[in-house]
Amino acid sequence: MTQPDPLNFAPNFERAQEFFRAQENYEASPLRELSGPDGVTVRAKDETGRMGLGAFKALGAPYAVARILQQAWEQKTGETLTLERLNDADIRAFAATHTFVCASAGNHGMGVAAGARAMGAKARIHLAKTVPESFAERLRGLGAEVVRSGDVYDVSVAAAIADAGESGAVLLADGTWEGYTEIPKWVMEGYCVIAEEMRAEFETSGSWPTHVYLQAGVGGLAAAMAYMIRHNWAEQPELIVVEPEAAACLQASHNAGAPTRADGPDSSMGRLDCKEPSIVAWYALEKAGVSYVTLSEEEGETAASAVSTLGVETTPSGAAGYGALSKGAPVPDQGKAFRPLVIISEGAA
Ligand SMILES: Cc1ncc(COP(=O)(O)O)c(C=O)c1O
Repeated sequence: MTQPDPLNFAPNFERAQEFFRAQENYEASPLRELSGPDGVTVRAKDETGRMGLGAFKALGAPYAVARILQQAWEQKTGETLTLERLNDADIRAFAATHTFVCASAGNHGMGVAAGARAMGAKARIHLAKTVPESFAERLRGLGAEVVRSGDVYDVSVAAAIADAGESGAVLLADGTWEGYTEIPKWVMEGYCVIAEEMRAEFETSGSWPTHVYLQAGVGGLAAAMAYMIRHNWAEQPELIVVEPEAAACLQASHNAGAPTRADGPDSSMGRLDCKEPSIVAWYALEKAGVSYVTLSEEEGETAASAVSTLGVETTPSGAAGYGALSKGAPVPDQGKAFRPLVIISEGAA
């Protein structure tokens, strides 16, 4: 038997879809039409209301929490845990013995906290100083313990790793590194549902996008979308990965030909302010043949107000795809339509 390559991303998105379809608060997020620069119509996948958590991350960690518990239960008892069994008293009692730990720039922590709470488990979230207190309050509201760890995101990541090592809690990160890939791949598998929802709509309308703008922090969202688009969409768009100038680690990795750190000042695109790429995500993006652009702080702010004015209240991180599109819409080939698609990845609250 050949050993699976831990860096290879080959999601089982049907499994994620089946999981979410069984959740009461799941429904496909809206695909809106916004007016873009030069009268262009921009399709915008609106993740601002996703499952009451306000960001696409609601599809990542909650699914990974369930997968981890399913796997742990199977190892303990030999029983394959079906979705129907997840709410049974014995499973909830088992879940209650688990604590999930992560670092977060905000939304991933919300997903971990919500996922843990849904299953009856506990969550402890490490936040850097740069993460707004509003996130800390929302996390506590979901029953999570919040620990302030360090000045910047990287330090909170190291703190979460150390915490899991010392306490025996389960580390549920959204980034990947050598030796730690399986759990974040489940997080990304959950995100795949977004691309599948869009595929179904484009299949019906026949109006496929020509350019898809994907904002990135560690790259998990962008890689999940890129994988799904390249494998399952009938018409192939160009894929453009958008990062803050202050944290362009995926572009730096592309330029270097290997996963590379990119240092810079703190970014107001706080959820994209990740200086280390997810290695699994970066390899998947390279395989998908994406291009990379960066956004200045000012361009991020302008995009957030533009999108909010168009009726979708969001942040610079949420509007980064729209910002990249506004910055440099490609000159369409003669007679060829330009049908851009962006993801509004979080709401303003
Ligand atoms: C609102 C928002 N958009 C985009 C991203 C980027 O996702 P990733 O870190 O998977 O690249 C995040 C990550 O936290 C986010 O919260």
